[in-house]
Amino acid sequence: MTQSQTISKIADTFDINTIYARRLFHIANKDNLFDDIAKILEEKPKPFVKWVGGKRQLLKQFRLLNLYPPANFDPKLNKYFEPFVGGGAVFFDLLPEKAELSDLNEELVIAYNVIKNDVDGLIKSLKKHKYEKEYYLKVCAKNPKELSNNVEVASRFIYLNRTGFNGMYRVNSKGGFNVPFGRYNNPIICDEKNLRRVSKSLQKVSINHQDYKEVLKNAKKGDFIYFDPPYYPISKTASFTSYTAESFLENEQTELRNTFAELHKRGCFVMLSNSDTPFINKIYSEIPSAKITKVEAGRTINSKGSKRGKITEVLVTNY
Ligand SMILES: C[S@@+](CC[C@H](N)C(=O)[O-])C[C@H]1O[C@@H](n2cnc3c(N)ncnc32)[C@H](O)[C@@H]1O
Repeated sequence: MTQSQTISKIADTFDINTIYARRLFHIANKDNLFDDIAKILEEKPKPFVKWVGGKRQLLKQFRLLNLYPPANFDPKLNKYFEPFVGGGAVFFDLLPEKAELSDLNEELVIAYNVIKNDVDGLIKSLKKHKYEKEYYLKVCAKNPKELSNNVEVASRFIYLNRTGFNGMYRVNSKGGFNVPFGRYNNPIICDEKNLRRVSKSLQKVSINHQDYKEVLKNAKKGDFIYFDPPYYPISKTASFTSYTAESFLENEQTELRNTFAELHKRGCFVMLSNSDTPFINKIYSEIPSAKITKVEAGRTINSKGSKRGKITEVLVTNY
């Protein structure tokens, strides 16, 4: 078997992307290749927050469509950018050597940086939390801006994400966190092993609190950019775009489309997810080199049993 055939076999056997499969091929023990890879995979870091719109369940479809990762992206020479990082499902799937992550949610970005720079302090603080409604409400009511340091900001943020309803992040117009207490059986507030793995994976990665457009400052020819913005609503009532206090409607979606086009001109590989709506299809069909592929989302349109149906999303690529 040639090296590239072995790498494809690793990707198929373990259901992982080819970039990561290639990396595993190089680091694993060749005498015991598949067993060793299985061991390394058990220790692979995964997202440390639950995030609405998380892409984990869609990645396999992207991969089987041969759209992810872009075949000609070279992670040794070029960088990966994820400017709407959220829980970072794609970053943790790809685990690229060179990456720049960013998001407009400041507490989320603080959490990434605290995990990167002071995982011990964070673990110590997370261990102090309790899964109790009254305690939850007290933590909820604290203003993150008034906490004494970033370890406490990250600790509060992760605690609320783990114990709040559905891992939602929702703030009111004054920026106060207003997600109800979630009912779980023993939620894991401090996943120490995973936090340490995440910390290791972030050591060479920069994580910034900034608008996605800042990606235009550093992205170069050959870099790979994945955009997973707040989705354009499929109906007027379905609008869920409140990860931050800002909204992301027609104007913002069109500006993002322009950024996509700009990065394409520069020679970057660009991939973007969004809802499958006439508006989104229209704005991306205005870029001649953009390819729009429909993928089945793991979500259903309506929670009422009788009206359940699979909804589609689009994956837009310029390659
Ligand atoms: C759909 S979520 C991303 C989900 C992510 N792919 C995952 O796997 O968890 C969209 C993210 O965009 C962020 N966001 C919203 N407006 C933004 C902006 N103008 N620039 C950068 N990030 C923004 C939100 O804070 C949120 O984390």
